[in-house]
Amino acid sequence: MTTAQQADTAILPDEIARRIVLPEGHADLAELHEAYRWMRNNMPVGKAIVEGYDPLWLVSKYADIQEVEGQPEIFTAGGADKPGSHNPILQNQAGDGFTQQLLGGSLRLMDALPFLDPPEHTTVKNIAFDWFKPLQLKNWETKIRVLANESIEKLKKLSESGKQIDLVDDWALGYPLHVVMTLFGVPAEDEPRMMALTQEFFGTADPEHQREDVEPLSPEAMAQQFANTVQDFYGYFDNLIADCRANPRDDLATLISVARQPDGEYWPTPYTYGWFMAICTAGHDTTSATLAGTLQQLALHPEVLARVKADPSLVPNLIQEGLRYVAPVKHFMRRALQDYELDGQTIKAGDRVMPLFQSACRDADLFSNPDEFNIDRKPNNHMAFGFGAHTCVGQHLAKLELRVMFEELLPRLESIEVLGPGSVTHTNFVGGLKHLPARVTVS
Ligand code: HEM
Repeated sequence: MTTAQQADTAILPDEIARRIVLPEGHADLAELHEAYRWMRNNMPVGKAIVEGYDPLWLVSKYADIQEVEGQPEIFTAGGADKPGSHNPILQNQAGDGFTQQLLGGSLRLMDALPFLDPPEHTTVKNIAFDWFKPLQLKNWETKIRVLANESIEKLKKLSESGKQIDLVDDWALGYPLHVVMTLFGVPAEDEPRMMALTQEFFGTADPEHQREDVEPLSPEAMAQQFANTVQDFYGYFDNLIADCRANPRDDLATLISVARQPDGEYWPTPYTYGWFMAICTAGHDTTSATLAGTLQQLALHPEVLARVKADPSLVPNLIQEGLRYVAPVKHFMRRALQDYELDGQTIKAGDRVMPLFQSACRDADLFSNPDEFNIDRKPNNHMAFGFGAHTCVGQHLAKLELRVMFEELLPRLESIEVLGPGSVTHTNFVGGLKHLPARVTVS
């Protein structure tokens, strides 16, 4: 085989590559999953050549993603500040170019965990790692239950007299944000601001999330919007850090603000920003997308709803399957540091690699009838939280929030009917349902 022929067998068909790489390709979930399925069956690892983007390898199968993510010394997450580097959050060339212009050539938009490699990553993760462990989180369960019940009361009011509601916008978005901000230590009156900022941060390509002060949808506008959003966050965080140090309290913001390095000094502010950004952005859209998507499946499968209502011990299975099915985090980019054979393809040193978590969660090698919503899967080792050193630090918190919500909601949920397919966020990064028309009855 000639080199040209070898190269051809590595290049994904245009429509598959565009569907997965472009944010607008994610607007139709059925088509998106069809593209993932095509990849898993025909070209599990394939090169995407999409106009406006640097070439990148898409990795669709569970085992291949494990192989990539399990070897951070070969597939780096970090280095975004170095020449020839990559951005862990996929942007087009114009977007990356603009970020580099803003940051003097660097793509390290923040000193947050997804941008770091061990050993720096390990030290920074350890600042709050223990706080996110199940045993510590148990201390917060009662508080989370109160918040879940407040949220259910809100749902009850919203849906009184059989009114149609938007289950996502009117309701599901609010609860995880409120929980994470409460635990973090942000006052309730600042939550709408944090919510708007996060939606801009994650949904920059979605026409619904454009800022009014920036021209819509040009790549430069998207990059400018992103930079504005980050600056807004930092201004807010400066005040919060100062306040936590002056008036320490029992919350996550204080724990991170007062953390010190081995030499006794506070962590440099960029790392504190990095942690705050990660918590404020990763901590709610992900969980609300899972909550809304799981409720949608319950509405579509009344027999499953009846089972989980009758037997609350099934709630953890329900959550695992909801996470697998929705998998709201679609990728974090890696870059190969050496040539590497992956599932028959030769990845060259310097190539960018995109692990597709959503696709891994539907891999038939692990999940029989993967497109079926089935709470009886055992085991259900989905990859919604990623794999390896960068595995989601908030996974136990997300599962706790979801478990408590379903434990409280299900006994009171008399009926739920979805009144249309709804719509999803146009993003290749983090998102799920953004609108879901529904009618619910809550006692
Ligand atoms: C349903 C909810 C959630 C899902 C599906 C999810 C998923 C993910 C995924 C796939 C990753 C990347 C893993 C990898 O690169 O292999 C990640 C990383 C991360 N998540 Fe989550 N997440 C969720 C909730 C949360 C929450 C509630 C928090 C915190 C409050 C959080 C904080 C983080 C942080 C800080 C990282 C970076 C970890 C690292 O790079 O070491 N996440 N998450």
